[in-house]
Amino acid sequence: METKTVGIIGAGTMGHSIAQILVRSGYTVLLNDVSQQFLDSAVERIAKGLNRDVEKNRLTDEAREQALRRLTTTTRVSDLEAADFIIEAVTEKLEAKVGVFRAVEPYCGPGVIFASNTSSISITRLAATTQRPDRFIGLHFFNPVPVMKLVEVVPGLATSPQTVEAAERLATSAGKTPVRVNDAPGFVSNRLLMPMINEAAYCLMEGVADAKGVDDVMKLGMNHPMGPLELADLIGLDVCLDIMKVLYESFRDSKYRPCPLLEKTVNAGRLGRKTGQGFYGYR
Ligand code: 3HC
Repeated sequence: METKTVGIIGAGTMGHSIAQILVRSGYTVLLNDVSQQFLDSAVERIAKGLNRDVEKNRLTDEAREQALRRLTTTTRVSDLEAADFIIEAVTEKLEAKVGVFRAVEPYCGPGVIFASNTSSISITRLAATTQRPDRFIGLHFFNPVPVMKLVEVVPGLATSPQTVEAAERLATSAGKTPVRVNDAPGFVSNRLLMPMINEAAYCLMEGVADAKGVDDVMKLGMNHPMGPLELADLIGLDVCLDIMKVLYESFRDSKYRPCPLLEKTVNAGRLGRKTGQGFYGYR
């Protein structure tokens, strides 16, 4: 079945930017979150992102207007009944994600595909909490979504080949490159990235170098576009910590133990760019 209307649950950093690339690619998007104020701010950010494309001559004024007309926001999950593909992009907590799928499923027809943008939670486990494990898949986007080419496509144990195809088609038509990855903790991306960020936090905690020193080593010596600590601030330190906890608890291997400095910084409410303070200050 061809996807035309995508329902996105969660209008935060990932949800609103997934909405942006999808409306830009011709999809109708229903963006859902619990507060209208939050949705209004998401629309503002999407409009700003599309304006940037117009300024850079990647989009005409008219195409931007059309894209914005394809976007509707709603605080009622029941309005997602018009969607033929649902993408969940809420907080990285199992209970929150399960709750969202339970709330929306009564309004969805049998052909509707559910996707989670989870960065580490088992797709098989999430899928099993719904009535459609064969039409459930992981679609893992990367921040900043308009720039990063990758989407990890993660089939669960029961995901059907038709669901995988539909998810890959959606990613490709939104200008992304899907890479299929099996359902394992952290998939490939975060199994490699998060231990690097965690180890960078250990280097900082142990005084091996200051934050700028750690980041400069990786930028100048390894050609990374951002150092691991700057990148952690971009992703959100709470997100990094949650993913490290999933790796630690899933593998039960001490090499994934979250760095105490990462935990302490999160406990202090310093979550990175979004709060104005993480490993660096942004005010
Ligand atoms: N949103 C949208 N676009 C953005 C952006 C943002 N937050 N940040 C930068 N951009 C765009 C800029 O507008 C610019 O586009 P344009 O000039 O063509 O319009 C382009 O990206 C390049 O930006 P800049 O010239 O300002 O800066 P850089 O060249 O330094 O690039 C960067 C910025 C793309 C963020 C680059 O530093 C980078 O690639 N960093 C690594 C990002 C990364 O690793 N992301 C993955 C995170 S892991 C993840 O998301 C998974 C999750 O599960 C944790």
